[in-house]
Amino acid sequence: MSDLIDGLVLLKDNRNLSQKEFLQAKQVCKTILSIIDSRDEYIKSNKLDREFCMPSALWSYLNEQCPIDKRPFLKLFNLVAKVDYDVINRLKLIVGPFFTGYSLSHLCIISESLFLTSWLFISDSKLSECLANPDDWCFRWMQTASAVPLQYIYNPPRFLGEIGWNVRGVAVNHDTYYFQEALNLFYESGIFDFLSDRVADAGIVRILEIGGGYGALASAIKTIIPNSEYWICDLPESLLMSSLWLTLTRADNDHQFIKGSHYGFTYLPNYMIHSLEGKFDLVINRLSLSEMSEHQIRTYAQIIRTLIGEGIFFEQNCDNRNIGGHNIYGHRAELIIEEYFPCRQVIKNSVPDLLMMRGGNPNIWSNQPVNLCKGKTYSRLFGGRYKTIHLVKDQGDYNIVQVDDSYVACLKELGHIDLGSEGVGQRDLPPYFYIGSSINDVISKVKKLNNKKNMLPI
Ligand SMILES: C[S@@+](CC[C@H](N)C(=O)[O-])C[C@H]1O[C@@H](n2cnc3c(N)ncnc32)[C@H](O)[C@@H]1O
Repeated sequence: MSDLIDGLVLLKDNRNLSQKEFLQAKQVCKTILSIIDSRDEYIKSNKLDREFCMPSALWSYLNEQCPIDKRPFLKLFNLVAKVDYDVINRLKLIVGPFFTGYSLSHLCIISESLFLTSWLFISDSKLSECLANPDDWCFRWMQTASAVPLQYIYNPPRFLGEIGWNVRGVAVNHDTYYFQEALNLFYESGIFDFLSDRVADAGIVRILEIGGGYGALASAIKTIIPNSEYWICDLPESLLMSSLWLTLTRADNDHQFIKGSHYGFTYLPNYMIHSLEGKFDLVINRLSLSEMSEHQIRTYAQIIRTLIGEGIFFEQNCDNRNIGGHNIYGHRAELIIEEYFPCRQVIKNSVPDLLMMRGGNPNIWSNQPVNLCKGKTYSRLFGGRYKTIHLVKDQGDYNIVQVDDSYVACLKELGHIDLGSEGVGQRDLPPYFYIGSSINDVISKVKKLNNKKNMLPI
C-alpha cells in the first residue's frame, strides 16, 4: 500500500443509526410516498405534460417486456421505501451504485446483474479482502485531491455504510473520487469564486441541482458554500434516497419538501419544477440529462435558461450515443443543450494525466458571457501544465496572470480559454493576450494598445 494510506474504513468504523434517526427516516419515507400517491392527480389538475413529468428509461414504470419486480431501479425504491432498519443503516452502500454507477460491494463498475445482489452478505472480513490493494480510483483521488486546497476536499461521513481506504483521514473509494472530480472542476473553473462573490454581495446564493442522486454533491457544495439555499429536483423515487441520506448525514441543516428552506435543503419533485419562482445563481446537472428522453432534456433546457437569468448552468454528461439500449437513451445531451444557450465555456481537467472524466464532458452554459476567471482558478486556463499560476493584477480590461516565470495579460471578456492546448501561451495574440517576462512588460504592451485605440477617430 502507498505510504499515504492508513488502513481501511470498514463497516465497523461506521456509527449505527440511532432509534431517533430511524424514526426520522420513517417520516421522510411517509412524505415521499404521499407525494408519489398524489403525482397523477397533481399532473392532471395542473394540466402538465405527462411525457416530461413521468419517470422514463431506467426509472420507467412502462416497460411491458419487463415486470416491475425485475427492474432494478424500481426494486431499489421498493426496498428502501419499506424502511427496514438494516437497509437504512447501510443506505449509502446499497443505493450508491444506482447513482454513481459503481458498486463498493463488488469494487467494479456496476452491471444490471450486480444491482442489489450481495450487499446483505457483505461483511468486514470480505471487504478487507476486496480492499487489500488500493485500486485506480484511490490513486486518481490522491492526484485530484492534491490539486485543490484542503477546504475543497470532499470527506464522506462514516455513516450508513461508507467504506474505503483511509487516506489522510478521508474514506476514499470510487465515489469519493467521483464527487472530488466535480469539486475540482468547480474550483478550477472559478464557480466557487463566482458563488463566494455572490454571497458577499447578496448574503446567500440559490443553487438548484437537477437529478441529485443520493445527495453527496449537494452535501459537499453546502459545506464549501454554507450560505446557500440548495434545491434538489428529482424523480420522487430518487428524492427518497437524497432526502434520507441528507437528512441523516446533515442534521446540522434544515430540510424541507417542496416549500423552500432558506438556508437548508429543499426536495422538489421533478414535475413541480414549473412552480419554482425567482432566479438561481447556479443550476447543476451531472450524469442525469443523459438518463432522460430528448423531450425531457429540451424541456429542462428551456426552464433552466429562464431560471439562471444572469447565473450559470454547470452540466456534465456522458456521450451515450454508443450505448443506447432498452433502458438508456443513446444521445449526447450537450449537443441538445447547446441549442438553448448563447454562451458556453468548456472546462478542462487540470490534472494532466486524467484526461477522461468519470462524469463526462463538463460545460458551463449561460445567457451572457460570464467572467469566471479569478486568481487561483486560472490554473485551468493552462491545461494544468504549469506549476505557478495566479492572478497578480487587475488591469482595466485585462487580468494579469503569473505563469511560472512569465506574465500574461488576458482580456477579461474572453472568459475561460485554454491557453495551453490552444498553443497561444507562447506568443502575443493581440488584443487577447500579451506575454512578457515581467508585469511591467505586459502592462506596457496593454497600454500601447490602449493608446492606439484612443488615437482612432471616433
Ligand atoms: C446517474 S444518476 C446521477 C446522480 C448524481 N447527479 C450523481 O452524479 O451522483 C441520474 C440522476 O438523474 C435523475 N433523473 C432521471 N430522470 C430525471 C428526470 N426526469 N428529472 C430529474 N431527474 C431525473 C435520477 O433520479 C438520478 O438522480
